[in-house]
Amino acid sequence: MKQAHSWILFFLCLLCAGLASCIRNTPRYHIGISQCSDDEWRRQMNSEIIREARFYDDVQVEIRTAKDDNVQQEADIRHFINEGVDLLVVAPNEAQSITPIVEEAYNKGIPVILVDRKISSDRYTAYIGADNHAIGREVAAYIGNLLQGNGSVVEITGLAGSTPAIERHEGFLKGMAAYPGIRLLATSEGAWLRRQASEKMEALLDSFPHIDVVFAQNDRMASGAYEAALRKQRARQMSFVGIDALSGEHYGLEDILAGRLTASFIYPTGGDRVVQIAMDILQGKTFPRETILGTSVVDSTNAPVMKMQTAHISTLDGKIELLNGEINRSLVRYATQQTILYGSLAALLLLVGMLVAVYLSLRAKNRMNRELSLQKEQLIEQKELLIEQKDLLIEQKSQLETQKSQLEQLSHELEEATHAKLVFFTNISHDFRTPLTLIADPIEQLLANPVFDGQPRQLLLLMKKNVHILLRLVNQILDFRKVENGRMELRLEPFDLLDSFRNWNDSFCMALLKKHITFSFEAPSDMDFRMQADAEKMECIYFNLFSNALKYTPENGKITICLAVVAENYVLSVFNSGSYISSADVEAIFQRFYQVSGHQAGTGIGLALVHAFVEMHGGSITAGSDEKGTTFTVVFPKCETSSVSFVAAVRPFEKSMKLQDEEQEASSMLVDAEVTADEEEVTTSETEVAVDCPTVLVIDDNADIRNYVKSLLAGEYRVLDAADGSAGIRLAMKNVPDVIVSDVMMPGMDGVECCRRLKGELQTCHIPVILLTACSLDEQRIQGYDGGADSYISKPFSSQLLLSRVRNLITNRRQLKQFFGDNQGIEKEVISDMDKDFVYRFRTLVEEKMKDAELNVEDLGRDMGMSRVQLYRKLKSLTNYSPNELLRQIRLKKAASLLASADMTVAEIAYEVGFSSPSYFTKCYKEQFGESPTEFLKRRG
Ligand code: FRU
Repeated sequence: MKQAHSWILFFLCLLCAGLASCIRNTPRYHIGISQCSDDEWRRQMNSEIIREARFYDDVQVEIRTAKDDNVQQEADIRHFINEGVDLLVVAPNEAQSITPIVEEAYNKGIPVILVDRKISSDRYTAYIGADNHAIGREVAAYIGNLLQGNGSVVEITGLAGSTPAIERHEGFLKGMAAYPGIRLLATSEGAWLRRQASEKMEALLDSFPHIDVVFAQNDRMASGAYEAALRKQRARQMSFVGIDALSGEHYGLEDILAGRLTASFIYPTGGDRVVQIAMDILQGKTFPRETILGTSVVDSTNAPVMKMQTAHISTLDGKIELLNGEINRSLVRYATQQTILYGSLAALLLLVGMLVAVYLSLRAKNRMNRELSLQKEQLIEQKELLIEQKDLLIEQKSQLETQKSQLEQLSHELEEATHAKLVFFTNISHDFRTPLTLIADPIEQLLANPVFDGQPRQLLLLMKKNVHILLRLVNQILDFRKVENGRMELRLEPFDLLDSFRNWNDSFCMALLKKHITFSFEAPSDMDFRMQADAEKMECIYFNLFSNALKYTPENGKITICLAVVAENYVLSVFNSGSYISSADVEAIFQRFYQVSGHQAGTGIGLALVHAFVEMHGGSITAGSDEKGTTFTVVFPKCETSSVSFVAAVRPFEKSMKLQDEEQEASSMLVDAEVTADEEEVTTSETEVAVDCPTVLVIDDNADIRNYVKSLLAGEYRVLDAADGSAGIRLAMKNVPDVIVSDVMMPGMDGVECCRRLKGELQTCHIPVILLTACSLDEQRIQGYDGGADSYISKPFSSQLLLSRVRNLITNRRQLKQFFGDNQGIEKEVISDMDKDFVYRFRTLVEEKMKDAELNVEDLGRDMGMSRVQLYRKLKSLTNYSPNELLRQIRLKKAASLLASADMTVAEIAYEVGFSSPSYFTKCYKEQFGESPTEFLKRRG
């Protein structure tokens, strides 16, 4: 808006400037006029110049008069040069003196017009004036005529250095030459002035007693001479002739009419002509370089007429002047009116502009007001919104406070519940110890009895081992409670980390070997690793970390334990390959009961206990994990130790080692059972079973469970086992068992995923799968069934339940097979779409190719996309028939159909359905249908 106002003001200023320029009338041409004298003749010329100049709008005339002074005239001309006049008009006082300054102006490019008188050079633009030579000659002729050729004459000349004086004199002399009877008595210089002429005349009168005619070169000097003669009373004796013939009182024309002058010659002023030629020059028009004005004699004969004419002219001049005056006044009035008009116009425009500006600013103001009120409304709205939000926040705050107090309450209740649980666990753990001891001891006694050998001994060893595991867990819970209650004591004694760790490593040899784990223990042998420590707690720390590493290291993996001295600390790091713990899990891993998601279930108490024991020693423990594996790092501060004997803490393990020796058959008791893993190769039960008995595949990462389930099934079934899901799938594909029993929680592929994959493969999709899990939550059951599991058994399970479930599934399958054998079961809902499709494809294939007597199982398997063995097992499992039996059955059924409907011989039918011999066909047919084909045909009639 401000910008719009500025523009309006700018345009108004421009307009005013334009108007002002219209009002102001700056002349285009400046003409400087330098007059030599100030007399009536010059004044008339000046009047003519001014009058003529009025006819031109764009010309300004400036006149300077030197009053017969050369120096003054030079100064006047210089002034005009300096002013930069466009044109210079000069009437030089004396030719020689004024020539240089005129040339200077001319040389500077200023056009110069000489009037009346000339200079001594031709460096001028134009000349305007009468022909003074001619005038001189005409004067001589007039006098000669007046004197009738005889008499005497005196001449009074103008200023000696002025060209009219020279030329008139020369012309006069020339004219007088025609009159030898007339004598020129004397020539005297009157300098164009009355007084000087009068004085000179007096002298001439004194000198010459008789003078007939006095020739004065202008009327003014003639009048002065006449006065001198009058004074001497000789005026009547002589005639006076002058030049100029100006009208006006005491001027030439009056003197002629008064009888004072005999005659005068018109010397034209030509001021109008001067302006005309000047304008021609300035406007670039053509002009004459020399303009010669005409002359004429005036005497008593024509003077009255001339007077009348000049009077008339004078009147006209007066009128013209009057008119001029009127015009000038009108012009002034016009200019004034114009100024007023333009001024009014400008004022009006200014007013309009201001009105527009006011209007615009009012509009802008209104708009701004509108915007402001809009903003105000918005602000009010926002304010209301903020108030609402504030209310909301206050409400939320109060809700949050309520929630916080509820949470605090909950947390308190949870804490109390946790505490109650811990107290419960502690109490129950105490309670467990007595019965566990009472189980452990009888088992020891039974083991001592040589009667128990073979499988009973194996079972006893298994029981013993697991009782010890339970005891260890119970002890850990009790220890942890002690730590939490601050009742755990630290029994410091001199302790050698290096020796102890080396000794304890031996306990893990068996477990490491079983999983084919590459183990290395790195410690600088020249370093001292002695400190004050609680040997039992150190043992717990080391064994937990080692057991943990063993648990999570896959087959053929790697465990590296390093002991080092860094600054003032001993640093123990335990690395195991192949496991990854997320950073979130790493942070929480030392919390009690924390279980890493996707990892094998544990109590979650071991690492919490380790953490507590490490801190009791003033140390710290951290965990880190990446794609290579997981590292636990324990830092123990070195502390002052006495120099008494440092013994490796083997004492707590003496018993353990003894046990290990005693129970070589069992897995290491110091290491959780889960860490042991058998090879995935088929391990068939030692018990004698019938060759064609059903096959059960057991998949479990826990070797003890695996072995236990195997021992349960071994009496009735051929048992295969695998330690993880992947190995289980490979075995199932290869052997197509009749039932699969799989654990759910396994490292790598879990049981649900394993089941889902088995159900997705053609070769294995028909096999019933029983999932075993320690978790009895419904959600997990649903997951298991979603994965395609046929049955779900929770741990701990009864061996009877497992056996009955396996038996049932096999029986059901048999019933199904019989149904298939009867050619109807294919429609039954219980078998999967994949199996339905498989049976259809097989049947269609056989029907297409049955005519070929050479058709064999190898070919059929290839066409079905499986090996001969896989096809055999799949068909056997699904239909209870081998492929050959099925082939024969389909052929016989087709033959029966042909016998019933077609007009073919038995031999033809036999060949048609792919039997190479009609007699063999008859034999098979009779076996299948209880009568021979011929008997059937006979019966049919
Ligand atoms: C006027 C005048 C005239 C004369 C002329 C000669 O100044 O003296 O009287 O004719 O000059 O230049």
